[in-house]
Amino acid sequence: MDFFLKVASLSLMLVMKLECGMGQSSQSDMYTPGASGSNVVEDVVKKVEATLGGTNELLKRTAFVESKYGKDTNTYRNGYHGGIWQMDKIGFDDTQNVKSHPKLRKQYAKIREDFGIDWPTVKYQDLRMPLYSGLAARLKYLNVKAPIPSSRQLGSQADYWKRKYNSKKGKGTPMKFISDVLSYDKSPNIEYGNCGKGRKTFIQRGGQCHSCTHGGKHKTGPNLFGICGRSAGSSPGYPYTQAMKDSDITWSEATLDEFLQNPKKMVPGIKMVFAGMKKARERRDLVYYLCKCL
Ligand code: HEM
Repeated sequence: MDFFLKVASLSLMLVMKLECGMGQSSQSDMYTPGASGSNVVEDVVKKVEATLGGTNELLKRTAFVESKYGKDTNTYRNGYHGGIWQMDKIGFDDTQNVKSHPKLRKQYAKIREDFGIDWPTVKYQDLRMPLYSGLAARLKYLNVKAPIPSSRQLGSQADYWKRKYNSKKGKGTPMKFISDVLSYDKSPNIEYGNCGKGRKTFIQRGGQCHSCTHGGKHKTGPNLFGICGRSAGSSPGYPYTQAMKDSDITWSEATLDEFLQNPKKMVPGIKMVFAGMKKARERRDLVYYLCKCL
């Protein structure tokens, strides 16, 4: 009997050890410089948000948009230590600047308690570890006064990320943020534009040359109902230029956005007379209207 009890308790210990071991291995990825992938990002986001508060998906989305969860080959380039969240040195320094952001002290205490990390002594190089990069990103968002928009309002989050995180100099546009997130998040209730504003812009800027109702007549330009997902130059019964027909474009949020900035630059030789739209937000609402609201 004694023998069986011993065997049973030994196997129990073994199982516990294995489980602990497994837990440690995924945890240790968070501390492994150069680690990447959705698992490590999910681990980091879960832990960081449990300590410093939720972000309506923004922290996870930022990791994908900035570096494809660290899988982008540029993530750990020489001399750059921003890690999965691609935190620049200036942004990182700001997470240690209690003079400008006195509320950080409270966050440091939480980080010390939950992770045993003394944030003011962290070096920029440490951000090569996913947990440190994630903490820095969360602190940077905490330094922003304006609240994070809801996870459904992808367009507003894209603007927020661009203004508060990626900054003017950073590469990437709100439209890129939107299309990156839409490439993996297919939730049908995500909104990235405003139908009403898009409709208004369409009427003002394109209504004289295009209709966009189902079965609407071609005007100077072709009917644009159902344009998203269609090949360029393929609406039946409209006399397109050869340039338009040969352009090999499939219309999507991203291609329409580029086209509307400067149609003749994207497709030289077309007959659409249009100055182009400089304001990203205006284009986004217009594209949203054409792709999602008709
Ligand atoms: C809100 C503004 C506008 C939008 C969103 C828009 C969108 C588009 C798109 C997506 C196409 C390609 C259609 C297809 O492949 O089936 C196109 C073609 C065309 N658009 Fe526009 N357009 C706008 C403004 C205008 C304006 C103001 C004019 C007239 C002055 C115009 C005239 C044309 C013409 C003539 C074509 C055919 C081009 C060709 O075959 O070479 N568009 N437009």
